Amino acid sequence: MIKKMKTNQKTSWKWMQYSIVILLVIITIPVFKCPSESALNESIRFTMKMGNGWNLGNSLDCHGKGSGYSEITDFERLWGNPIVSKAQIDAIKKAGFSSIRIPITWYEHIDEKGNIDQLWMDRVNEVVDYAIDNKMYVIINTHHENWTFPSKDTRKQSTYLISKIWKQIAERFSNYDSHLIFEGFNEPRLIGTEYEWTAGTSEARKIVNEYNKVFVETVRKVSGNEKRYLIITPYGSAADLDAIKALIIPKDSHIIVGIHAYKPYGFTHDQNGTTNWSSRDKKDTAEIDTIMQNLNQYFIKKGIPVIITEFGCIDNDNLSDRTEYTKYYVSAARENNIVCFWWDDGAKIGKKEKFGIFDRNTQQFIYPELLKALLSV
Ligand code: GLC
Repeated sequence: MIKKMKTNQKTSWKWMQYSIVILLVIITIPVFKCPSESALNESIRFTMKMGNGWNLGNSLDCHGKGSGYSEITDFERLWGNPIVSKAQIDAIKKAGFSSIRIPITWYEHIDEKGNIDQLWMDRVNEVVDYAIDNKMYVIINTHHENWTFPSKDTRKQSTYLISKIWKQIAERFSNYDSHLIFEGFNEPRLIGTEYEWTAGTSEARKIVNEYNKVFVETVRKVSGNEKRYLIITPYGSAADLDAIKALIIPKDSHIIVGIHAYKPYGFTHDQNGTTNWSSRDKKDTAEIDTIMQNLNQYFIKKGIPVIITEFGCIDNDNLSDRTEYTKYYVSAARENNIVCFWWDDGAKIGKKEKFGIFDRNTQQFIYPELLKALLSV
């Protein structure tokens, strides 16, 4: 009898142990699943909330006019696009975008001391408000500048202008909330040298880090900008391993890394390149996969958010390949908790780059299937 009781006790103890193990397995399964968005840190969750975005390219970033103008809007029309209007930005929002990047070139709008022309600042502010009024996330930057050349000879003047210009921008927008994001530089690189479209030289990469540091410190000093998200970029905003490995992340809780990745180049940019791209062909997908893995390994895994602030592919009468490319690209990025902004240069007529997917005159997206792919994740 006693023996039977003991055996019974043993069996129920065993069952209890089994139940505990099963319970533990059930409880821990979600933890070991692919990281869900709630498992991500606050900064990466922020970029995920922004979603994929759209670039208002070749508008406020136009330059080359030289001195003098009759209307401040003369600049944004320089490369064939119409004046930016609230109706255009409303249409971008209506199409499903919550985020927009507004590239801006400043060098033609400053005096010799770096003071920004107030009419230009007002116009920038007006365009920013078109998007902010739509409750969109807005990235503004310094784009085609002649003062971000990363070399020993130029760094003194560059750091002066970086702090001078970013201080004025930070002051102007000091009471804007986290919907407004500043990106220090677009593709800071050795323009006109053999290193322009590479990962740069070790000296240039080091100087880009210094420029990022000056940018972050300048903005943080202006009240109202203590917690604003700031985008820093590696040399040339390049996704190349040498460039991303060299990037120093400032000790700051609200930093995002911005990358440009138009890969594979022959398909995305080259009018005489290939018009074909297939998600079933390893040689077409390999470069994209590698970039996403690298960005994950060097940043996302360490809790540092990444936005691909520019990607896209030109129109070469190959809509279905472009659509397939876009779908694959944004999905690969999303699997790695990265969002992407399409580069749109607008005017198609007589232009050599044809990234435009939105007709700024009619306010229509020209390729609904490509738009759907872009917003599919
Ligand atoms: C770069 C340039 C932009 C260009 C784009 C695609 O970001 O800033 O002007 O059109 O890449 O080539």
